[in-house]
Amino acid sequence: MITEATRVLIVDDAAQNRASLQRLLAQASFTIAGEAALGPEAVAEVKEAKPDVVLVAVEDPATRALRTIETLTMAVPGTPVVAVSSLSEREYMRRAMLAGARDYLVKPISAEDLETSLLALVELEQKRSSLAEDAVDTGRTGEIVTVLGAKGGIGRTTIAANLAVALAIEGKHKVALVDLDTQLGDVALLLDIVPEKSLGDVVSLIDRLDPELMRGFLSVHSSGLKVLPAPLRLEDGERITSAHVRRVLQVLSRTYDFVVVDTPRAFHDNTVTALDVSSLVIVVTTLDVACLKSTKVCLSILRSWRYPTEKVKLLINHVNNVNGIGNAEVESAVDYPIFWRIPNDTTTMTNCSRAGKPFVQTQPAAAISRNMISLSYSVAGDPPPTKGIMSRLRGK
Ligand SMILES: Nc1ncnc2c1ncn2[C@@H]1O[C@H](COP(=O)(O)OP(=O)(O)OP(=O)(O)O)[C@@H](O)[C@H]1O
Ligand SMILES: [Mg+2]
Repeated sequence: MITEATRVLIVDDAAQNRASLQRLLAQASFTIAGEAALGPEAVAEVKEAKPDVVLVAVEDPATRALRTIETLTMAVPGTPVVAVSSLSEREYMRRAMLAGARDYLVKPISAEDLETSLLALVELEQKRSSLAEDAVDTGRTGEIVTVLGAKGGIGRTTIAANLAVALAIEGKHKVALVDLDTQLGDVALLLDIVPEKSLGDVVSLIDRLDPELMRGFLSVHSSGLKVLPAPLRLEDGERITSAHVRRVLQVLSRTYDFVVVDTPRAFHDNTVTALDVSSLVIVVTTLDVACLKSTKVCLSILRSWRYPTEKVKLLINHVNNVNGIGNAEVESAVDYPIFWRIPNDTTTMTNCSRAGKPFVQTQPAAAISRNMISLSYSVAGDPPPTKGIMSRLRGK
């Protein structure tokens, strides 16, 4: 996040102190949203200026400042308040935090400390409010899309993550991505997310799980996508049953337009449950002969479960000019129509893993990204954009 975009309001009775805080904020390149004295003036000014964060000076006697913090916290709960003070005693810190301050900075404060504290708080608040919006039960059910594959290492996670990001980009759709690979899940890694909670933590609350509780387990990706990462500990993965998976996906689909599910390489009961509740199953294959053979078996199993062909779609990954196998040949080999083909693109893939970001976000112009974005339009049933995909992604 860039500091210039962050608007800060200063609350301090002493004009001289306000001026020195202004200088410090300017040094860290923050934008000043306004200033006010302690008391009702501060609350009115904050309501009017709508800053991202408020700095309140706490000096002895601290009662008015603490009361101001308390009133601000209640009047504008979505705006974090930070106390700045020359009082370093723990008692003042404790009282300021009890009044609702989210941080307590002791003078002398460096521009760097200010930047670290304010940006972290604003970012946290943005995540919190984005998740709060998502806790709303929509009263309808979103689509569950499971990405399956008959072999390991064929691109399921790459496709699930990039499809989910492409669906979520520009706030087009509310999307959640679930990592069902309970042993080796790497969705969080691919999206450069450091999760605090995961699918493993949902288990203990499963009976009470609802959209409100669910949001506490989700991580927020920079695209707006919400992620339920794979269990952080191996033993937690072992406790996850089909009943848990069913409940998690049902609850998520009450809030999100799309719930994309990444699956493990082995066919597990949990995967079967995800397939059952999905409205779309994307079966990923490559043109490798062994993979095509396993894919054929997998497709015939899904057919024996009476999944309709509209629900099960075949996607070929790693298509390149060297494979030399035509659509008709593949369709006859697996006895199934091809829905989608994704090109092989090692260069984009390497750049994207270096950047720790999905390619649809970092390299939207690459052929593989344009392909994946078109896939997202097809999955969502959205009309293709009238403007070029590139200019849409750049927001122009
Ligand atoms: N179209 C593609 N072109 C080039 N490389 C690709 C393509 N799709 C996936 N890859 C690469 O293949 C490797 C395996 O991909 P990925 O992890 O998505 O597969 P997976 O099926 O989820 O594997 P696992 O069985 O380990 O879960 C990754 O290094 C990824 O970058
Ligand atoms: Mg994977």
